[in-house]
Amino acid sequence: MSVLADTLEDVHLTRLALTDFRSYAAVDVPLEPGVTIFGGANGEGKTNLVEAVGYAATLTSHRAAQDAPLIRAGAEQAIIRAAISTGSNDALVEIELNAGRANRVRLNRAPLTRPREVLGVLRTVLFAPEDLALVKGDPGERRRFLDDLLVAMAPRYAAVRADYERVLKQRTALLKSAGPKGGLGRAKGVQQSREAVTATLDVWDAHLARTGAELLVAREHLVHALRPHVERAYLAVAGDGRGPAEIAYRRSFEAPDETAAGSERPDGDPDVIHRARADESHGDRVRAAERSLRAALLEVRSSELDRGVCLAGPHRDELELSIRALPARGYASHGESWSLALALRLASFDLLRSGREDPVLILDDVFAELDAGRRDRLATLVATAEQVLVTAAVPADVPEILTGRHFTVSAGALTDAP
Ligand SMILES: Nc1ncnc2c1ncn2[C@@H]1O[C@H](COP(=O)(O)OP(=O)(O)OP(=O)(O)O)[C@@H](O)[C@H]1O
Ligand SMILES: [Mg+2]
Repeated sequence: MSVLADTLEDVHLTRLALTDFRSYAAVDVPLEPGVTIFGGANGEGKTNLVEAVGYAATLTSHRAAQDAPLIRAGAEQAIIRAAISTGSNDALVEIELNAGRANRVRLNRAPLTRPREVLGVLRTVLFAPEDLALVKGDPGERRRFLDDLLVAMAPRYAAVRADYERVLKQRTALLKSAGPKGGLGRAKGVQQSREAVTATLDVWDAHLARTGAELLVAREHLVHALRPHVERAYLAVAGDGRGPAEIAYRRSFEAPDETAAGSERPDGDPDVIHRARADESHGDRVRAAERSLRAALLEVRSSELDRGVCLAGPHRDELELSIRALPARGYASHGESWSLALALRLASFDLLRSGREDPVLILDDVFAELDAGRRDRLATLVATAEQVLVTAAVPADVPEILTGRHFTVSAGALTDAP
């Protein structure tokens, strides 16, 4: 996967064209390597532009869970076109967002069988005000952060993730069909006997454990790799002596076989886990996790049937964040939470660029939230990236070190700013 440093290609966007995307009927923006700043008053469409770039890279929006709000009100279809220069060969990504039917993606004019085949063509790291939820929000936000990064690192995990979500959904539907204890309160006809459900559950347990193990071991590996980058980035943003900020992956289930054998679980400390498993191959780890998850599913089965929810698996795991040994959620100040969210993104950028071409960096409105010291430190860290797209309602908030082309966004049109 890694490429020798001297063969690295510079990857950057050369053009972004939108049709009926968000507030834009039509816009066509030429882009260059280095820094591009989009200024303009609130609500003029700055974030809409960079949201489209993020969508071209990840097939998701950083602020809308569904695609419907991305299509211009009254239109049936939105189109995002992103032209990417990769040094040797250029790529054109075209995404059609359709109201009420499947989206379509073309790469270099050729339709893709599955949209997710486009993942990896353009890689981005997007910083946005919504990132505060990484620290203050539900565990689901942090799991999504890990899975998105996993896919950006290795696009094949998009399929692993999709498989797991499908299996989880079907297994949950099966649990619900068993109905609560005594079979009360569920619509007749839908309900199956517990015996019938139990027989089918064995099969779904196996599927869930297999796909779940692959996902969670990959996440554990990722967190291990990310950890030193987060620590370093946090100090770089917040200032020396303000840390340490630490991250750890915590599974939602114990490994019954390990506890039964009397061997203590290494308390979730990733270093301990990784030392203990240093001699294990990736395949060994996945198989061990699969056995643990399967055993855990058997243990919780009766409560699962009572409650109609799936109680063990990576969909209930947590990425724990702490600052000076206190959980960030609930303890960290607003500014500290912000710095930690930035550190998570900066660490992602470090990890994605190591041995590979730089991802495109997107900074949506982040400087307004930071004090002058943090602003300058962040700007210094990102200034070396191949391409940086910045939005700011108040251009003076953008530190001077980030100089480059400056557009003013107003009423759906872009003009060169002085
Ligand atoms: N599907 C849509 N159809 C039409 N207009 C939309 C759609 N979605 C969003 N908008 C409009 O786009 C505008 C928001 O654009 P955007 O979020 O890019 O603003 P911004 O320039 O980033 O503002 P701020 O400085 O406040 O962050 C709003 O006026 C909103 O009404
Ligand atoms: Mg905005």
